[in-house]
Amino acid sequence: MDSSTQSTKAVLVDADDGTVVAQRSAPHPPGTEVDPGAWLDAVDAATAGLLDQAAAVAVAGQQHGLVALDGARRPVRDALLWNDTRSAPQAAALVEEMGGPQACADAIGSVLVASFTSTKLRWLRDHEPASAERVAEVLLPHDYVSLHLAAPGTAPFTDRGDASGTGYLDARSGAWRTDLLVAALGHEARLPTVVAPGSAAGATRSGALLAGGTGDNMGAALGHEARLPTVVAPGSAAGATRSGALLAGGTGDNMGAALGLDLTPADVLVSIGTSGVASTIAAHPVADGTGTVTGFADARGAYLPMVTTMNAAGILDLQARWLGVDHDGLAALALESPSGAGGVTLSPYYGGERTPNRPDAVGTWTGLTPATTRADLARASYEALLCSLADAVDALVRRTGVQPARVLLVGGAARSAAVQALAPGILGRDVVLPAPGEYVARGAARQAAWALSGAAEPPAWPVPTVGTLAAPPEPEVRARYAALRDLLDPR
Ligand code: XUL
Repeated sequence: MDSSTQSTKAVLVDADDGTVVAQRSAPHPPGTEVDPGAWLDAVDAATAGLLDQAAAVAVAGQQHGLVALDGARRPVRDALLWNDTRSAPQAAALVEEMGGPQACADAIGSVLVASFTSTKLRWLRDHEPASAERVAEVLLPHDYVSLHLAAPGTAPFTDRGDASGTGYLDARSGAWRTDLLVAALGHEARLPTVVAPGSAAGATRSGALLAGGTGDNMGAALGHEARLPTVVAPGSAAGATRSGALLAGGTGDNMGAALGLDLTPADVLVSIGTSGVASTIAAHPVADGTGTVTGFADARGAYLPMVTTMNAAGILDLQARWLGVDHDGLAALALESPSGAGGVTLSPYYGGERTPNRPDAVGTWTGLTPATTRADLARASYEALLCSLADAVDALVRRTGVQPARVLLVGGAARSAAVQALAPGILGRDVVLPAPGEYVARGAARQAAWALSGAAEPPAWPVPTVGTLAAPPEPEVRARYAALRDLLDPR
């Protein structure tokens, strides 16, 4: 399953070839601060009727979120999510304390920004010290959901992929840096066990449905009172068996997508969801001291260099709302406007931005005239989204040296007619469209099937594509976007 920012998606997949047998989803509450119990309710709703059919299970979750638990394993406060920017000053302070950006990247694989878990721990220490003092254990969202599914008594676990986004794991070696956790939080706390790629972490708590059963005759009288079991109605379920499916380590959503798409070092994956992501697979760790590329570990034992933006599909959601149309309507409007959107340019960092690192940024429109049309406004929003992703792809190529043979485009917004029409021109590359699918959840399923097989490599599941998009490059659109981007923050 995919426990992402906006919803939980559960897929039941045939372990032999990855064919999706069934899928369901359940929404999460909005906001950047969320009761983690809501994810458990969503997972229960999305997996109802599916979990009991599964031989193996894994969870891929939104990266970085802080789930801080007390000694009784209760959340000390709502979780702070990857897109909550309040800890930007703490990120800067921690980077400074670690000896500067390059030293930070050398230690953990990435330069800390507000998304990383450690910066949220420091924020808690600075702003809610009483809560910080109660923290006895720190988990990531996918760890918390996995634990909910696990048989009673299972100790918390995670994987190197998601753990590499905490800010206190050495992504190179896969070992916790508890000194960095203590530096952020102010005291020690328990961390989950890091499960090796493709290994089982335990078993789920609910396996087959357990019926009431019956006896062959009644027992003799005991002579004093004692507790008696609940009498289950004929034909009813009493609960579930104690242990069920194999439970794999799970991973972060981006590592899950890479596994679900069988990403290789010759691919760049562009994903347009709540976040915008450009990622690739690398055999060796990356330590980009500029902070543009985060040097995460992947779910297979390699690395997942990645550039992430915080404003992605949300740019289109907002625009559709403002123009009073649905997403198909927005795409149709955008395609009525010419390339360059009649001179309208948008800097789309509405909720602050992470790449470039501008946590306090807001959205800015330029070039509005009496001749500007609704179609121009729609087109400018798609152009801004794709220019921001083009910057991400260029940075990934520049900093990792990857020579992409394929650029793959996935995520909810990749289904938009306007995104498909404009993407190859603005990215300046042909774009391969995998068949629509829940690739994060599929990656989790592939990890589960891998652990179930006990093989050295994950099972080979075909990844069908539906076509390759091509268009002439649009350097003028990129240049106008870059000019506005740099004008707003010349750094
Ligand atoms: C990656 C990141 C986002 C979240 C979205 O570093 O913060 O892509 O994983 O769920």
